[in-house]
Amino acid sequence: MIQKDFIPKEYTGQLEEADFGWQSPSNIALIKYWGKKEIQIPANPSISFTLDNCHTKTWVQVSAKSQTENEFSFEILLDGAAKPDFAPKIETFFKRVQPYLPFVNAYHFKIRTTNSFPHSSGIASSASGMSALALCFMSMENTLIPDMDQEFFFKKASFLSRLGSGSACRSIEGPLMVFGQHQDISQSSNLYGVKYTGELHDNFKKYQDTVLLVDVGEKKVSSSVGHDLVNGHPFASARFEQAHKNLSELLVILKNGDLEAFVKVVESEALVLHAIMMSSQPYYLLLRPNTLRIIEKIWEYRANSSSNLCFTLDAGANVHLLYPEAEKESVLQFIKNELVVYCKNEQYICDQIGFGAKKL
Ligand code: DP6
Repeated sequence: MIQKDFIPKEYTGQLEEADFGWQSPSNIALIKYWGKKEIQIPANPSISFTLDNCHTKTWVQVSAKSQTENEFSFEILLDGAAKPDFAPKIETFFKRVQPYLPFVNAYHFKIRTTNSFPHSSGIASSASGMSALALCFMSMENTLIPDMDQEFFFKKASFLSRLGSGSACRSIEGPLMVFGQHQDISQSSNLYGVKYTGELHDNFKKYQDTVLLVDVGEKKVSSSVGHDLVNGHPFASARFEQAHKNLSELLVILKNGDLEAFVKVVESEALVLHAIMMSSQPYYLLLRPNTLRIIEKIWEYRANSSSNLCFTLDAGANVHLLYPEAEKESVLQFIKNELVVYCKNEQYICDQIGFGAKKL
């Protein structure tokens, strides 16, 4: 599908005053999306596990708009309290989606949102937040186009989420989502995320993700700035080529269940992401001393056992611990005994792979 396929031809239904709600999951990339063209056209394909416990719930109440001007009319509340500092991001989102959702100028929207994870945990809420909002808008559009098919509904929800945040387009379905064109995945696209429909070995079913909270609070360098620094980066083309190759390898691993090979690809992707940041101009560092201590502990733990525990990172200092369900008990013991000391206020979040957004 191309961009213009997302512009509606005709609205036949009515959008009444009502509340539309969705719960959207967070996701963790195994092959990283890092580098983009405007607006969120990825420089390389990525694939992520959809999470389960880490999610955002959003409700959008539609009502008549008081002013007649063509500007957007909305208010936003986080956990019941007004959040005016979210407004610029939402305003940008409205501007970007307007050509594809022409009804957004015609109403007032009261957006209420809440995250299952602490707001200051350093877990990005943009993926789950933007996708929950996009899904609410799709439910509204569905009342205007009552015969819309399910597949299109989710594809457009992902397309709109991407306009808010690239990784948000992977926060729609599960257990794995691909964003960006890749030669081995015929349905893949740079415009929206698609569900991974290949075979998934039993080893990966119920895969666990325990997020160790190392550094909480605002990131020093935002993802948007980080993505921009990939443009003109001396290693950029080699990195993009590597991401394609790593995704090809991972697709084989997902089928054959080779956990040792999984660990190698996933950890290498995490470190390359940060290596690109550290070698950007200007260069910067998001890893903290405790991030490195945790990584070394994981390597030590693996060397002394037959464990397939591995780590991945997003654009921050927190560490995601990925492991098969069969290792749940032993890994949680290891976390409590040896890793929790490196977490801010001993905080960590237990999650596992999930199956996508849910209508509320
Ligand atoms: C490191 O989706 O946060 O988490 O598109 O600018 O909103 P924008 O960036 P964002 O980038 C995610 C980067 C990453 C890797 C990934 O999730 O693939």
